[in-house]
Amino acid sequence: MNTGHIVSTFSAAALAFAAGLAFNTTASAAGDQFAKAAHNYDTYCVQCHGINRNGRGINSTNMSVQPRDHSDAKGMADIPDNELFDVIKNGGLAANKSVLMPVWGNVFDEGEIKEMVAYLRYVCKCGSAK
Ligand code: HEC
Repeated sequence: MNTGHIVSTFSAAALAFAAGLAFNTTASAAGDQFAKAAHNYDTYCVQCHGINRNGRGINSTNMSVQPRDHSDAKGMADIPDNELFDVIKNGGLAANKSVLMPVWGNVFDEGEIKEMVAYLRYVCKCGSAK
């Protein structure tokens, strides 16, 4: 009997299961309330802010200013909701931050940006400073 083969089949199944869990912690576990914002984040934000929302997106290794870690409760709590809104709508420069944070006001309407701000509060598990 080839036990090596059985073991590798087992780990492939375990990996598939783990991948399913990882997906659940982003989009679906956020629940219906944030499903749309989580989907928008996965579409437009992850390349810089990371699939784990920790600022380690695929682009981040080459960036002179590092994307904000949205999972950092303390750092995010220092940023008021209106600044999150402005930076998403008008880009980093709107809050004297880096131009590397793009403008999204032409992609999302104000309701979608508000949902994104609420979703970021869910991601950081932190309240607003103001
Ligand atoms: C091209 C890379 C890039 C993309 C794509 C991007 N960001 Fe950013 N973002 C950044 C960088 C870089 C910073 C840090 C700016 C700074 O600290 O000067 C940042 C900072 C932020 C901040 C913190 C602002 C603050 O006041 O500190 C928020 C909130 C944010 N991004 C939200 C988003 C959202 C939501 C999306 C998707 C709709 C997104 N970003 C997409 C690069 C990006």
